[in-house]
Order: sequence, then structure tokens, then C-alpha cells
Amino acid sequence: MLRPLHDHPATRSPDVLVGPGDDAGVYRLADGRVLIQTVDFFTPIVDDPYDWGRIAAANALSDVYAMGGSPLTALQLVGWPRGEIPLAALEEVIRGGADVMAEGGCVIVGGHSIDDREPKYGFAVTGTVASVEELVTNAGGRPGDRLVLTKPLGLGIIATAVKAGACPPEVAAEAVETMVALNDRAARAMHRVGAHAATDVTGFGLLGHLREILVASGLSAVVDAEAVPVLPGVVELLGAGFWPGGSGRNLDSVRPHVLDDPAEATLQILCDAQTSGGLLMAVPPDREGALLGALEEEGVAAAVIGELTDGPEATIRLC
Ligand code: CO
Ligand code: CO
Repeated sequence: MLRPLHDHPATRSPDVLVGPGDDAGVYRLADGRVLIQTVDFFTPIVDDPYDWGRIAAANALSDVYAMGGSPLTALQLVGWPRGEIPLAALEEVIRGGADVMAEGGCVIVGGHSIDDREPKYGFAVTGTVASVEELVTNAGGRPGDRLVLTKPLGLGIIATAVKAGACPPEVAAEAVETMVALNDRAARAMHRVGAHAATDVTGFGLLGHLREILVASGLSAVVDAEAVPVLPGVVELLGAGFWPGGSGRNLDSVRPHVLDDPAEATLQILCDAQTSGGLLMAVPPDREGALLGALEEEGVAAAVIGELTDGPEATIRLC
């Protein structure tokens, strides 16, 4: 959280159950239901405007799913260089966003657009969970919890190569399919089985978002780097020098907390900034099989990538 909001009266209320720093803000309503609110928007990350819109919507919905919630309504946010990029392209962006919102059962109830030198698109999303008990925050992890990840990494590396015009089309296509895939089915499986903690893997990369769980839960973790799924083509693109600037910042902030000395390429992939990445869930070992079964029933590919361990330092051991 940026300094001006740290402990500011505007962030304090007895009904705020989760404030700035988790995937979404969480507010308790008088009837016991819980409101989940999140906002996400960004500049284009793919060439096709329809795909960009779909990705932006899936990404914005993801924080609601990561808290165990169901999306209800969305407000659309648009920045567009009128006169420079045809409005027909914006219509494609909006059509993509709307298609994915409809898929997620989330109603677009309004929005706001401004003239902007660089296009920007996204949504503020409101969702609910039925009760406080059904909330899944970053803070509930316990020692021994198994870590389950539902989407492969490498999306930032691929997007960087796409921007440079150097990404093989089939690699780019699989990345788009990964990013437009909603985390709703993964969240449904998580709800059925009951996870201790969860987040979605986005801009801070896998290890950055894992550390948010570690800090909030007061734990450390062991990650089996070989078990972490990676999109095809990513290792080659990284080897060719494609790596986003944001991922570099992620690595700098995570490196002091990584205990071992893994290969640099491994760290680069584990810290790669993702857009619309998968859910990272912490589930007790006796429910691991049930969660994997529920995910399979929902048609969600998933991998067990490590576990939470005792130790308040929020360190990560790679093996
Ligand atoms: Co998130
Ligand atoms: Co977010």
C-alpha cells in the first residue's frame, strides 16, 4: 500500500474485513453477506483488440474468485486516443470484455471513459460471498498446507515477445487462451473442498504473490520449481532475452527471501509478471486429493507445487 493510505482514517471501519493489500477489499454488509470489490485496468498486452478486452475482463474478475466470491456487477473503465485509433477497435475491445463478463455471469452496470494518449481498459468488479466463513483470504494458510496452482507461467515473457513481433503465433495463441480462461471453475472447486488461503497470480509473479500469502499467514514455503507448470515456448523466449521490466522488479524484491541459489532462468520464470494468471491455493494435506479431484471435474488443469512451512520470515526454499 502506498504511504498516504497507510493507516489513514479513510481505510478504517469495523466493517472492513480485508483492506488494501489482499486481492480485493472486503466489506461486511448489515445482513451478514460480504461485499468484495476490486479494480484492474491496463494498456494493451496483445495485438487483437477483442482478445485484449477478453483478457482485461477475465483478469478483473479473477480477484473476486481468488477471495472465494461470485461476481455480481462491473463498471467499465476506458482510456482511448480518439482520432488516433479508430473507434471500431474500441468497439472490439468492449465486445471482448462484455463477452467474458457475460460468461462470468457478471452484469455490466456502467462505466467511464476518457481521452487518453495510450489506450487503457479494465473493470471495477463487485462480488459477494454468502458469509464471512466462506471468505478465502491470504491470511489463512497453515503449516503443511499444500500449494496448488491452476495456470502455467510465462505470460509476461510471451507478451514481451509479442510486443517485439518475435513470438511464434502458436505460442501467442496458447497464451491468449490461458489468459481469457476464467478462474470461476477453479474457484468453484476451491469452494467445494475448502482452502485455507488463496490468491491469483498476476503482476507480482508466482513468488511475489506467494509471499503475500506467507506474510499474511506468518509462514514460509518450499516450492518445487520443477513441478511448476510453464507454457510452451517460454524457456526459449526467455533464453532469447524476452523478459518484462516488471518481472525484474518482482525478482529484485523476492530475491532476498529466496534461501537457495537456483538457476537464474528458474527465478526469472517464477517471478515473471502474469496477467490473468491462475489461482494459487493453500489446502490442508488431507484435502489435497479432494481438491485435485474437484479441479479435474471442473476441467481445470492444476499442479501441486510445494507447501507452506513453519517459520515467520516469509522465506521461500526452492527444491
Ligand atoms: Co489478485
Ligand atoms: Co488486482
